[in-house]
Amino acid sequence: MYQRVKGTYDVTPTEGRAWRELENQLHQIMSRYHIDYVRTPIFEYKDVFHRQDEHSDMVTKETYNFKDRSDRELTLRPEGTAGVIRSIVENKLYVPGHTLKVYYLGANYRYERPQKGRYREFYQVGVEVIGDPTPIIDAEVITLAYELIKQLRIQGAVVKINHLGSSITRKQYQSALIHYLTPLKDQLSSESQARLSLNPLRILDSKSKTDQAILNDAPKLNAFLTDEDRHYMQSVLSILDQSNIPYEINDQLVRGLDYYSQVVFEIQSNLEGFGAQNALGGGGRYDHLVKELGGHDVSGIGFAFGMERLLIAQSLSHSEQHISHSLDAFIITLGKESTIHAYLLMDRMRRQGLNVSMDYQVKSMKSQLKQALDFRSKFAILLGSDEISNQEVTVKNLQTEQQITMKETELFTYLSSQLGVLS
Ligand code: HAM
Repeated sequence: MYQRVKGTYDVTPTEGRAWRELENQLHQIMSRYHIDYVRTPIFEYKDVFHRQDEHSDMVTKETYNFKDRSDRELTLRPEGTAGVIRSIVENKLYVPGHTLKVYYLGANYRYERPQKGRYREFYQVGVEVIGDPTPIIDAEVITLAYELIKQLRIQGAVVKINHLGSSITRKQYQSALIHYLTPLKDQLSSESQARLSLNPLRILDSKSKTDQAILNDAPKLNAFLTDEDRHYMQSVLSILDQSNIPYEINDQLVRGLDYYSQVVFEIQSNLEGFGAQNALGGGGRYDHLVKELGGHDVSGIGFAFGMERLLIAQSLSHSEQHISHSLDAFIITLGKESTIHAYLLMDRMRRQGLNVSMDYQVKSMKSQLKQALDFRSKFAILLGSDEISNQEVTVKNLQTEQQITMKETELFTYLSSQLGVLS
């Protein structure tokens, strides 16, 4: 038997419903915030993700890199932002002086150690906003991330915010941190030892207790911020306060990718059973990425949620998932003679725009009714030999259990009016 690749998973029909429901909800929320949908390739030239001086987790955690038959060096995208910015620059979508807001859904690939909520192929929904340097946009983007969680009825989510300062501030702080940690290197966890030379700021959100004890006396990022940085952060927080968005300031939050500067945030889940990978999503400002990818010298801000983690959080938040009906009607045939007649009726109903299904293999009425209920059909249409000879159908509302018999010609009008009420 063939097996799926380690770190990947299949979406089976039952899970497929939850996925589609989630995707539909996400598209609706994005429309409400007036954000346009974009889609970029799953693979890009390697340089899009591995830019010069890049020391982020994308290097240490490994991306999937390969050469195609013409020796092009390609990378499966480990995240959405860089590819989307490449596309914005290449297609000249950004017009100076205007703000561009886009969102995307799609698969990403990271060669990480798989565990609950962490896969080698995973899906993200993300938003990128280019060209607005005001703190209002930071607040709007954080509010959208928070609202998205609310709309998805996910409980136990906490917004954590930090200010990393400008890239200069960050570099100064990084030097101070390296200076402090280098003599203590041997006491750090092996992961933090590796990060000390590659991505030292990430040591701040190490989960190791020893690392955290060492960090207690480390220099604090806060002390390196300029007055301008502090004022900017205050403005963002004040708008969030006025919109009643709850948040926690966390000066250990640095984020894994190295393009961030200024305001960064994460939405974490404190639901029991969520597992160690408790970040539902995260994001922040990036001041230099657009320019680095060949575009204008303009700042951007965005975030992404892991869609598998949204689904896990949804299922932990409420035992009964709200999943809409997948079928308008299921046709139940009583006797072999009615099957073709029923098939042709179903075919006409589908062409009229209804979602209808049936089983062609002769089964008992009970088992067909069970199928209708399993498929969460709104109606069952009963077709026996009496109905057929009278050109009638019996329609059973599976919610109210009410049942009426009518002429087949009246069926479409009847169902449309009923479905208008139900949907
Ligand atoms: P990130 O924090 O690397 O940020 O990923 C965002 C979210 O993707 C995480 O919070 C997590 O929910 C999910 N995620 C990441 N890795 C995995 C994995 N291996 N398995 C399952 N889920 C995962 C970014 O990717 C940035 N591009 C976000 C951003 C957009 N910043 C600005 N704009």
